[in-house]
Amino acid sequence: MSQTITLERRGRVAVVTIDRPDKLNALNQQVHREGVALFDELRTDDEIRVVVLTGSGDRSFVAGADISEFEGQTPVTQRDLFHERTLFNTIDTFPKPVIAMVNGFCLGGGNELAMACDIRIASENARFSQPEINLGIMCGGGGTQRLPRLVGEGRAMEMVLTGDMIDAATAERFGLVNHVYPLDQLEPETMKLAEKIAEKAPIALQLSKEAVKFASRSNLDEGLRREVDLFAICFSTEDKREGVAAFLEKRKPEFKGR
Ligand code: COA
Repeated sequence: MSQTITLERRGRVAVVTIDRPDKLNALNQQVHREGVALFDELRTDDEIRVVVLTGSGDRSFVAGADISEFEGQTPVTQRDLFHERTLFNTIDTFPKPVIAMVNGFCLGGGNELAMACDIRIASENARFSQPEINLGIMCGGGGTQRLPRLVGEGRAMEMVLTGDMIDAATAERFGLVNHVYPLDQLEPETMKLAEKIAEKAPIALQLSKEAVKFASRSNLDEGLRREVDLFAICFSTEDKREGVAAFLEKRKPEFKGR
C-alpha cells in the first residue's frame, strides 16, 4: 500500500497523484520508492495504456526534492540515491505514454519529473523553476540535460543560473509545456488528450515513443535507422492489420496491443 501516491484507474488511463499536499507534494525518498513500485505495476498492466501524473491539491504539482531530507545526507548517499532507480529514470524508460498534469508549483525535482514525462499540460497558475542554485546546489534529476533539449541552451542556462520562476504562459512560449488551461479545465482537457492517445495501437505508441526519445540521444543517421527498424516491427503486428482493415472498411479500429 502506498502512503504518498494514489492511483485511480479511469478506463485505459491511470491517474497517478503524488499525495503530500501539506508539503506541496515535495519528493521524498518514500515518494521515489512507492512511485517506482507503482510504475512497475502499471508497466505490465494491459488494461492501462496511458498514465497521467499529477500532484494533490490545486497549489502544487511538485515543489521539488524534500529539503528536510537533505540534512544528514552525505555526498555519497546522495550520489547512490540518484544512481539507484529514481522516479525520474523510471518514468523516462516507462514504455507507455506519460502526461504530466501540472497544477501549480513545478519546481526543482518537480520540473525534472515533469520533463521526464512525454507531454506536459499546465494550469494557468503553474510556476516553473530550477531553484537548486538558491540552496547552493545544482540539478541532480536531469534538469541540466532535459531543460536545454526542451527550451534551448540560453533559456535553460538562465533558469538554472538564476533559479527564477517562470509563469505558465512563458513555459508554453518556451516549449516547456504543450498547452495551458484555466485550472478548472486542466483535468478535463488532460483526460481528453490521454483518452485520445489511449485509443491508439499500444505497440505503435510504445515504439513511436522510443523513436522520438532516441532523437535527442543520437545523431540523425542513427535515429533514421532506428526509426525504420521500429517501423518494420509495427508491420508485424495484428494491430497494423486491424488499423489498415478498419480504414478500408470505413470503421473505427479496435486495437488489442498485439
Ligand atoms: N521540501 C520540503 N518541504 C517543502 C518544500 C520542499 N521542497 N516545498 C514546500 N515545502 C513545505 C514547506 O516547508 C511548508 O511546510 P510547513 O507548513 O510544515 O512549514 C509547506 O510545504 C508549505 O510551503 P510554504 O513555503 O509555507 O508555502 P509558500 O506558499 O509560502 O511558498 C514555495 C511556496 C513553493 C515558493 C516554497 O515552499 C518554496 O520555495 N519551496 C521550496 C522550493 C525548492 O527550493 N525546491 C527545490 C528543492 S532542491
